[in-house]
This record gives sequence, C-alpha cells and structure tokens, in this order.
Amino acid sequence: MLITQKEIDDCVQRLADSISLDIKTKFMNNMPVFIIVMKGALFFGVDLLRKIQLPVIFDTIEISSYKSSMISSGQIEIIKKESINIKEKNVFIIEDILDTGNSLKFLIDYYEHKGAASVKTIVLINKQKKHSHDIIPDFSGISVDDKFIVGYGMDINDLYRNLPYIGTFH
Ligand code: IMP
Ligand code: MG
Repeated sequence: MLITQKEIDDCVQRLADSISLDIKTKFMNNMPVFIIVMKGALFFGVDLLRKIQLPVIFDTIEISSYKSSMISSGQIEIIKKESINIKEKNVFIIEDILDTGNSLKFLIDYYEHKGAASVKTIVLINKQKKHSHDIIPDFSGISVDDKFIVGYGMDINDLYRNLPYIGTFH
C-alpha cells in the first residue's frame, strides 16, 4: 500500500477545487471538454468529474504505449478516438500518471493539431524522475518515487485496476 483511499479522495477533491476555480475564472463563456485517457485514468476521471459541479462535458480516448510490460515502448497508438468535435474547445486532458511524458506530449500535440482553443493537463500521479519531454502538468496530484504502481485504474497486464487504493508492484 502506497496511497490510501482517503488520501486519493482528498487529493481528487483538492484537484477538483482548483480546476473548478480555473474554469470559473477563465472558461465560463466556453466550457471545457474533459478527455479521460483510457483505461488508466478512468476511475480518477469519473471521481474528479463528479466533484466538479459545473456543466462540463467529457469524452474518452484510448491510447497504448505499454505493450504488456512495465516498460514504455515509446510508440503511442490510438486505440479509440474521442467522438466529439474538439475545434475551438478548451481541452483538459485527464491522465493517471506522468512517467516518461511520451503520452501527454503525444496527446497535447494531437489536440492542438485538432484546433483546440487551449489544452491543459491534469495528472493524478507525477513520478519523480526526469521526463523525456519538458512537460509540467497544469494540475498535478501526488508525487511518487520512480516505482511501478497499480490500483485505482492503474494496471500491470490489465490486472489490479479495480483496487480501491494505490500500491507498489513487486
Ligand atoms: P508515459 O507516456 O511514459 O508518461 O506513461 C504514461 C502512461 O503509462 C500512463 O498513462 C500509464 O497508463 C502508464 N504507466 C506509467 N507508469 C505506470 C505505473 O507505474 N503503473 C501503471 N501504469 C503506468
Ligand atoms: Mg494511461
């Protein structure tokens, strides 16, 4: 056990509060679109959106970079695209972990290329390591050491996503 259910819930509440404030000060005339990055950010995304009490919309994208292993392949593949139109929208990407940064870099470029008015990033877990891209999430939850973790959406070979807490895998 690394992060308890209570710690996750408190963290998600803090993130929801600061994101709500950001929306109220900047985006009330063009409400944002949240993109949950499947499958890792599913649990986090749903809990976060439930705590944002504003009329926002969301969609999902599924990408993969880990080919059934604990090492990032670096190659990102889109498995399922979002279905709503992103043009002129303020996009908030919801990710589970910032590890190498390859996934977020790919997604930021992808939504900018689609003509988003702005692209912001939210990550629950920020791994303490040098990311291969200079990515600083706009909203970041908990920093952890560079260890492989599972639970609360995060997996090893698609297992352990349904653990209600976050643990290290050995
Ligand atoms: P990045 O592209 O290297 O930043 O990796 C981001 C993606 O890799 C995340 O969206 C996760 O799905 C996955 N990932 C990275 N580290 C872990 C981990 O410790 N446990 C489970 N998944 C991870
Ligand atoms: Mg992921």
